[in-house]
Amino acid sequence: MTPDLVIANGTAVLPSGAAEVDVEVTGERISGIRAAGTGQGRERLDAAGRLVLPGGVDPHVHFLIAFMGQRSVYDFASGGIAALRGGTTTVIDFALQRHGGSMLAGLAHRRRQADPVVTVDYGLHQIVTDVTEQSLDELAGLREAGVTSLKVYTTYEDDGLRLDDGALHALMERAAQEGLRIVLHAENHEIIDRLRRKAVAEGNHAPRFHALTRPPITEIDAVGRAIAFSRDTGCALHILHLVAADALALVAAARAEGLPVTAETCTHYLALTEAALERPDAPHFVMSPPLRSEANREKLWQALREGPLTAVTSDEVSYSAEAKTIGIDCFADIANGCPGVEARLPVLFTLGVAEGRIGLERFVELFSGWPARMFGLGDRKGRIAPGFDADLVLIDPTSRRRMTSEDNYGPIGYTPYAGMELSGWPVATVARGAVVVRGGAYLGDEGRGRFLHRGPADTLQELR
Ligand code: URP
Ligand code: ZN
Repeated sequence: MTPDLVIANGTAVLPSGAAEVDVEVTGERISGIRAAGTGQGRERLDAAGRLVLPGGVDPHVHFLIAFMGQRSVYDFASGGIAALRGGTTTVIDFALQRHGGSMLAGLAHRRRQADPVVTVDYGLHQIVTDVTEQSLDELAGLREAGVTSLKVYTTYEDDGLRLDDGALHALMERAAQEGLRIVLHAENHEIIDRLRRKAVAEGNHAPRFHALTRPPITEIDAVGRAIAFSRDTGCALHILHLVAADALALVAAARAEGLPVTAETCTHYLALTEAALERPDAPHFVMSPPLRSEANREKLWQALREGPLTAVTSDEVSYSAEAKTIGIDCFADIANGCPGVEARLPVLFTLGVAEGRIGLERFVELFSGWPARMFGLGDRKGRIAPGFDADLVLIDPTSRRRMTSEDNYGPIGYTPYAGMELSGWPVATVARGAVVVRGGAYLGDEGRGRFLHRGPADTLQELR
């Protein structure tokens, strides 16, 4: 039977390394890898001069979010299009447990928001805001519903998100029994709270005080504490958006000890430093944890080369430029977060591969392969191999273009990466066998994305 599609004459990054091959697709799956020029398909996508990568897996995005008084521009339709335009074919977003409410109800609500319109394949982490006997009894149901990770915030008390140490420890005890994993926003709330109140009271309102009131010790303490809880309970733990370099050693030591602990960093921490908080557009660069020093940035790159970091995520939050500036008079009022799901590929490719900080194969693992495995999708996503979903992105490694705010899909009006000259821009994205983006235009329908039932975490212990 002739395959439906052949992606011909590209340099594909396969599990065995980069090779000039034709990739054949039948239905939604990769059906064959042939020598270049020998593949067959009823439709042909010419990839000469292109790199063919597994579609990106971004396990940390916030589409359709209302937080700190602002709303995201993206919903699950537009956010998915932004992801696909940036070569990301799988995302993991979040379902929210309302305080005092049911987690399963929060999950059902989020799926009702996403399923009719979502344009990209997606999974959900469950945000836990209230640990009670009833909510702990829901954990098995979450696992059966394909949600195998529980998000905990150790701060954002005013927004009703924070769990204290007692609740986190209790949750980890039970999650370990259920084979679930914690994904943690790790910042020490008490230290932040004291420093923020003091800065605000003393009239220190400039955006740079966002970083000064969240010093590295806030991350180091929260990461160390959670690792101790993981050791005590046996619960698998993933540290979200890690930036403080001194916390890397804690993760590395935990992994060396054999604990089921992993960590990611985000695109913005690899590209930017706290110097951005002195710019006239400083509110655009307010996210938590905050941007840190240049020396810290290089240590993150080292941790991507040598461990312990095993994923680069976007922590996408699409507030508009206008919404971000609403708190200009006081850093404490600026909604935290920045857009990045679309820029993740060219930023990571340029700073990483083109500038020689990481090799092409490692880039592919950090962008796609390892996040797929870490989040229970390693049997179908993140690899160019027969039987895997035909999720692919074709990039032009030689293209160079300065990024502008227009490069973000939709009316966001800014990107943190404006002015950077980037390469590796996506030219086409294939999602489950269909060419869904070509030249930046989305060719699919709303609702074509699918909810992904995820399996247990793989903590990549062989990478220790
Ligand atoms: O500043 C950030 N990271 N905003 C998004 C919400 C979160 O903390 O993950
Ligand atoms: Zn967070």
